[in-house]
Amino acid sequence: MSDEKKEAVGLTRGLTNYGDMDFARYLRLSMASAMGYSRELMKKPVIGIAATYSEFNNCHRLVPELVTAVKRGVLAAGGLPLEFPTISLGEVFLNPTSLFFRNLMAMDTEEMVRGQPMDAVVLVGGCDKTVPAQLMGAVSADVPAIQVVTGPMMTGRWRGERLGACTDCRRFWAKFRAGEIDQDTIEEVEENLATTAGTCAVMGTASTMASLTEALGMMLPGTAAIPAVHADRIRAAEASGKAAMMLAARKIRPSQIITEKSVENALRVLLAIGGSTNAIIHLTAIAGRAGIKIDLNRLNELSDTTPVLVDLKPTGPFYMEDLHVAGGIGAVLRELKPLLHLDALTVTGQTLGERLDQPAGFVDRTVVRSREEPLQPQGGLVALFGSLAPRGAILKRAAADPTLFEKEARAVVFTSLEDLSNRIDSPDLDVTADDVLVLQNAGPLSPSGMPEAGYLPIPSKLARAGVKDMVRISDARMSGTAYGTIVLHVTPDAASGGPLALVRNGDRIRLSVKERRIDLLVDEAELQRRRDAQPATAAEPPRGYARLYRREVLQADEGCDLDFLLAKPNKP
Ligand code: FES
Ligand code: MG
Repeated sequence: MSDEKKEAVGLTRGLTNYGDMDFARYLRLSMASAMGYSRELMKKPVIGIAATYSEFNNCHRLVPELVTAVKRGVLAAGGLPLEFPTISLGEVFLNPTSLFFRNLMAMDTEEMVRGQPMDAVVLVGGCDKTVPAQLMGAVSADVPAIQVVTGPMMTGRWRGERLGACTDCRRFWAKFRAGEIDQDTIEEVEENLATTAGTCAVMGTASTMASLTEALGMMLPGTAAIPAVHADRIRAAEASGKAAMMLAARKIRPSQIITEKSVENALRVLLAIGGSTNAIIHLTAIAGRAGIKIDLNRLNELSDTTPVLVDLKPTGPFYMEDLHVAGGIGAVLRELKPLLHLDALTVTGQTLGERLDQPAGFVDRTVVRSREEPLQPQGGLVALFGSLAPRGAILKRAAADPTLFEKEARAVVFTSLEDLSNRIDSPDLDVTADDVLVLQNAGPLSPSGMPEAGYLPIPSKLARAGVKDMVRISDARMSGTAYGTIVLHVTPDAASGGPLALVRNGDRIRLSVKERRIDLLVDEAELQRRRDAQPATAAEPPRGYARLYRREVLQADEGCDLDFLLAKPNKP
């Protein structure tokens, strides 16, 4: 038996099963020879590179350039870099919604990382669902792993204004709906919102997930906010290739990095940056792969004790490129230091504390506030509970109107996305600015797969009258680039028979952010009557992934993962 076989490093790991291991090894090396690799390189550790370039994914346009740089880093450190494709999820190119496919991509990533011979993997991705999918897969495969993100887009200029996807997309769309700008102008805006490669330029879901990945310790320090087109991003990719070699040598696995402590650190950062509500679902799913549960009551405790330090759009004036030059996530972590678990391990092999012991660089305090002078003393997100959402709902209070926080009002109900789009702009719609808009059947179990439809448009007759915000409640999600007094992720969702399904036009709903409550003010006898009259649940999709999804998908409080992919599935 040769030494190489005993070590089983690189290409000779995890042999294909032919019932004769020596034959399998001989066959694999002969096929690898067909790739033109030298005998010498074929004996090196293998670093897999999960590449997600796709012409259906604008955010990933520069993935090939990053993959080339990762390879350079691996080769320079004495390894063999092998790129392989996985599913790529371009946020706006997928139907019904990218979230529906996130778990499919996570399965693809997990199985290809586990199934192919690699000593470590570099995950290259960027758009909203790609990074969570890659991390979920990496945690489950538990092969040494490091994340590289594609980085944010640069902002552009249009008629003297600075524009960046996609908060400005929404701002101009609202103006167009209110009749403040015409068709020609909105078309001109459309051509100027997204002008470079990279992910949305604001603190949307992609930027939030990049920031949380750095906080989790799964990405090199200082690399979350580097713009997609900046030369530093290429250097970060090269350094990540080198770091993957170290992770392989020291056998540092995601299960050592993604722990209860690092997940809590990531939640602190989420709150301090006023990050996307979607990130709660994704972080819950990533943690769930490691057997860690995120309790929304704990989120509220953390929210009460975490200051908001960063003010990017959609809540403030800045963009990701500003955060990068202002000191990046490192500057945020340094301010949060007394609140963080400093013994959490990172992909550098150092703990978070060791990272933060290094001297601080320049910090622009207009973009990253000090903890003594925060933007807000408490975190940007809160969980609400009550008779309408027994297992919780989320409100991004940092992006909401505080004058609407304590409110009892009449419900105006839309039973589906289709109903919403058919009636929201009808001149006959019985609605006032004082009502609460409710959308049903847009949760994880609905056929729409929990789209970012929670940002219900203000009915056009009210928008034209100058109404900018209303309380809106749904089991849907909201884009991280959106804003408003919007209660999301109502759990359990309407399609699974949750109380949200029982709301009728004219019911009273009470929101109290102070008490962290959301209640449907209808007595139990009436609710039971409605429950009994409720039609049976919709038929399952006949086949394929949609059927698997419908049977296995979990609610938002379990990260909308598929049950059998959890570290400990609920179903026997
Ligand atoms: Fe990819 Fe916004 S569309 S990050
Ligand atoms: Mg988004």
